[in-house]
Amino acid sequence: MVALARFDAQGQWKETWVCDGLVRQNLAPTGVQFGRWPVHALPASGGLAAVQAAYAEELADLGGDFRLHSADRVALVPDDVHWPALRRQFLAEHRHGDAEIRFFLSGTGLFYLRSGEGFLGLLCEAGEWVALPAGLAHCFDAGEAPAFEALRLFGRPQGWEAEPTGAVLPALPLYDDFVAQLLEQVGEELEG
Ligand SMILES: [Fe+2]
Repeated sequence: MVALARFDAQGQWKETWVCDGLVRQNLAPTGVQFGRWPVHALPASGGLAAVQAAYAEELADLGGDFRLHSADRVALVPDDVHWPALRRQFLAEHRHGDAEIRFFLSGTGLFYLRSGEGFLGLLCEAGEWVALPAGLAHCFDAGEAPAFEALRLFGRPQGWEAEPTGAVLPALPLYDDFVAQLLEQVGEELEG
């Protein structure tokens, strides 16, 4: 289930949306697009080609809206030795000259996006795709023990080049805290 949270410039959690329509509506001012595809079974091996074959129809549709030049398939597992260094890199706010498009094949991940004076936290899970427009400042986290697989789609052969903004962000909750706070809020709403 997708979740979107609005934070003010100081990093205070202000609002939460968990239904597709409200998420799309509140992402619209940033130019971020979000969608969902049925999750298809993938063969145990086959790499990128297997994903491209399984999602050929969906990718062809997306290719009508975006320039899709190349792709890769990334997987992160909880004990990945490269994760601490990668995490620091993903958490440093940056921009790209092209759209950043990512489809989650499994697991979950959290984007922080600049929105007006504040930020939006977008939590995506398997079956969901997100397209960040070129130039939008953002960062990404997948927690202390990352567990996701994603198809990344690039508009140019060399992939995305990250341009760091160098900004010092307020203390926005990292993935694990974001999920814990989200569950608390959703629980309260259900009880209320
Ligand atoms: Fe990025």
